Amino acid sequence: MHTIVAKVQLSPNVTRLEVTASRIAQIRQAGQFVIVRKGEGAERIPLTIADSNADTGTITLVIQAVGKSTRDLVALEVGQAIKDIAGPLGHPTELVERGHAVCVGGGVGTAVVHPIAQALSRAGVHVTSVIGGRSRDWVIYEEELKRLGDVVVCTDDGSYGRKGFVTQAAAELLAAGKVDVVYAVGPVPMMRAVAELTRPYGVRTIVSLNPLMVDGTGMCGGCRVSVGGKAYFACVDGPEFDGHQVDFAMLADRSTTYREFEQEALQRSLDHTCHIGLDKA
Ligand code: NAD
Ligand code: FES
Repeated sequence: MHTIVAKVQLSPNVTRLEVTASRIAQIRQAGQFVIVRKGEGAERIPLTIADSNADTGTITLVIQAVGKSTRDLVALEVGQAIKDIAGPLGHPTELVERGHAVCVGGGVGTAVVHPIAQALSRAGVHVTSVIGGRSRDWVIYEEELKRLGDVVVCTDDGSYGRKGFVTQAAAELLAAGKVDVVYAVGPVPMMRAVAELTRPYGVRTIVSLNPLMVDGTGMCGGCRVSVGGKAYFACVDGPEFDGHQVDFAMLADRSTTYREFEQEALQRSLDHTCHIGLDKA
């Protein structure tokens, strides 16, 4: 069992949990993830390890509550526990050792960018993080990233930082030159847009993909992605890939395959909660 030792609401639907997982905390590297199962029979949820502390034996998980399983997970309170955490899974981030890295984080993807920026900064790389949210309340990890380098904050509505998508600020940095590598994590259209921005400059662009995952061991095929015309499994071959080679259209298509089932499951759980509420009233 993995006890929750801290819980913070980062944005209207994003929660940070710090949980005990001492072995994972000792060996995990930037870019790796875990698969979490709240309890017996619960859905398996892949989550990037946003941070860790080997001394306290804890890892940090950032969860966007979008469906039944993620809502169940963020409903846990400090002192309660998650049954299973498997990992660390996936390949560590391919890190550069010098130069200027631009880390682009869209919404909850900013939490995935954090360990990458952390590892780059520790290696002595100059890091500029470009992070964005729908509005001020949706911007996460700003303070943590400021400790690692420069930060440009963008909001869609202009309520904080620069008005506009992260891609606009990233485009200006590229035009100004001296960008050696770009790491981008966020919604699929954002990662695709970043890859198209960097392509003409020939700047290496690494994206972190989060397709549907089931086993996380390369056995089920659920997380298949197409990169450079070849099929890969994001859980064992990724989750990070060359953004200029990723078939984003296929990724977008596959990620919506189960949306109806997910919405049905969420509705069923909300109906169930209402019934319990009425029964108690
Ligand atoms: P969101 O829709 O609120 O967007 C966050 C920011 O991304 C925006 O503020 C904007 O700056 C940028 N953005 C969005 N659409 C864009 C576009 N078309 N062009 C350029 N920039 C754009 O994001 P959210 O709700 O926080 O994130 C949800 C999405 O992130 C989900 O689809 C989820 O699957 C994905 N996600 C990906 C990873 C990963 O590892 N790749 C991890 C977590 C979540
Ligand atoms: Fe099953 Fe990747 S999650 S193959």
